[in-house]
Amino acid sequence: AEVIIVPDAPTGGGIVADEIAALIRRRPDAVLGLATGSTPLPVYEALRDRLAGVDVSRVRGFALDEYVGLDTAHPESYRSVITREVVEPLGLDPRHIRTPDGSLDGIARAGEDYEEAIVAAGGIDVQILGIGTDGHIGFNEPGSSFASRTRVKTLTRQTREDNARFFETIDDVPMHCITQGLGTILRARTLVLLAFGEGKAEAVAGAVEGPVTASLPGSAIQLHEHVTVIVDEAAASRLA
Ligand code: F6R
Repeated sequence: AEVIIVPDAPTGGGIVADEIAALIRRRPDAVLGLATGSTPLPVYEALRDRLAGVDVSRVRGFALDEYVGLDTAHPESYRSVITREVVEPLGLDPRHIRTPDGSLDGIARAGEDYEEAIVAAGGIDVQILGIGTDGHIGFNEPGSSFASRTRVKTLTRQTREDNARFFETIDDVPMHCITQGLGTILRARTLVLLAFGEGKAEAVAGAVEGPVTASLPGSAIQLHEHVTVIVDEAAASRLA
């Protein structure tokens, strides 16, 4: 992976936003892989002015993951987050932006449908990734298969604690999620992994320099030919 150390998150977000804006100018129907959580927010923020005046009506997007059993109208469902942070501010067409169906009714077919939709779109051009403190990418928790496709997973206690900040109490954080698999992520044409802050240092070191192992799902990025890792000094502090 190419590792870029930036002074702060807005700088990192700007670098990724420049790449994405150039991609969309070149290819107006580009397919974006969209992460949620705090990390990619500076990317979406920076895209607001980078995309001003650019025709984004044909841009397509696929979220990495969604909670299972949380109403899509809930403000912390990833559908809501993507709508609020990406679709509305950037003026994307919501019909072209998909999130996995985490509803209990849809769950049986949701993984397969999502995989088919990604293939039908021609694959993801650039997949934005954050990384969990436990090394997950998407919600592929430790132990996930490198061949995995979009499917239901159980969130670790660590991830539920990390994400409790978005909910009233940890008990409100769903137990399950539906996430693109590591195999799905590895099929994207390019990967951009961002991480900021001391809390990510160990996961970043494992992902970039550690053994390629299912115990640290982020290490799957080492199997991909086109990966950029963007980190601040704190997140880079455990790199050799
Ligand atoms: C979000 C996702 C997760 C997050 C990770 C880091 O769609 O798939 O892998 O990227 O949990 O979360 P933050 O950025 O909130 O620290």
